[in-house]
Amino acid sequence: MELLLAPLQTYTDHHYRNAFHQVYTGIDQYYAPYLRLNNDGSIKEGPKVDILPKNNPYFNITPQLMCCGIDEFFILHDYIVSLGYEEVNWNMGCPYPMVTNRNLGAGILNKPDELHRLLEAIYPRLKLKLGIKMRMGMEETSEILDLLPILNQFPLTEIIIHARNAKQLYTGGCDVEMFKQCINETDHRLSYNGDINNLEGFEELRDQLPTINRWMIGRAAVSNPALFEEIKTGQLIDTSTYRERLLAFSKAIESSCLVSNPDQGFALSRMKSYWEGFCEELSEGKQLFRKIKKAKSLNELNDFTESIVD
Ligand SMILES: Cc1cc2nc3c(=O)[nH]c(=O)nc-3n(C[C@H](O)[C@H](O)[C@H](O)COP(=O)(O)O)c2cc1C
Repeated sequence: MELLLAPLQTYTDHHYRNAFHQVYTGIDQYYAPYLRLNNDGSIKEGPKVDILPKNNPYFNITPQLMCCGIDEFFILHDYIVSLGYEEVNWNMGCPYPMVTNRNLGAGILNKPDELHRLLEAIYPRLKLKLGIKMRMGMEETSEILDLLPILNQFPLTEIIIHARNAKQLYTGGCDVEMFKQCINETDHRLSYNGDINNLEGFEELRDQLPTINRWMIGRAAVSNPALFEEIKTGQLIDTSTYRERLLAFSKAIESSCLVSNPDQGFALSRMKSYWEGFCEELSEGKQLFRKIKKAKSLNELNDFTESIVD
């Protein structure tokens, strides 16, 4: 079984990934948040820096891109090639209307002909192996059944499916029944993604999808970073170890943020976002996060967070 870290913009970047590597185990493949172009045609700086090899010394990552046309695709593709990567993942899942209205992200999912045209144009010039991360459709999860036969015509490395449609954003449940149908309709290696939040939930899903052996985890990587290890060992981590390691993880992320940007304000705001997630799994999380939110300095934030091991 392989566990994949989902790309989460502003969360699972190299600060998170390198800190994870110091404190936890269990992730087999790391996916970086998507690269995208600015309006002037340059590549957005944050994700561009995130995938630099010097920022990713410990393991292989799979870079991701989001684009709506062939020219855009190849600007991003060529940058990824220039850094020495061999594979790219194409984001066909971002569900927000500002993105989908421009045919970006999930915006392609209700346009099977356009998807076919893009892939036909891209493949002859492609230097990287290509995988896709997608939702099941824009309005309906069944839209994916029109897309999989098209994707079967191209030599993709994999398809990672977040088992929701874009209209749902993050509401409602994942459509596991439709995912089962996808298994029969695709020739590609499939990974499951969506709402794996704890060991028990994972084990239920695994029983429902016994032929799947690649699982991608997103938001729970921030609320419970020990989950990968718990899934791999099949055992919950005891509370005091959980808390000690969470604190060590937080410190490692903070140090990494300060190295890249000594401005304490940057690290403080990043740490507040992480702790919003970390607090979800702590019994005193609600009260703790109320204090953390108001912290005016990293020292103050650390005074609050250290209380979790008292
Ligand atoms: C804050 C945030 C940022 C995300 N950024 C990306 C991204 O850069 N690329 C991508 O393919 N998906 C992105 N996603 C979607 C996740 O990768 C994942 O598909 C989704 O959260 C469902 O998995 P989960 O239920 O395990 O969280 C993002 C999700 C969130 C909540």
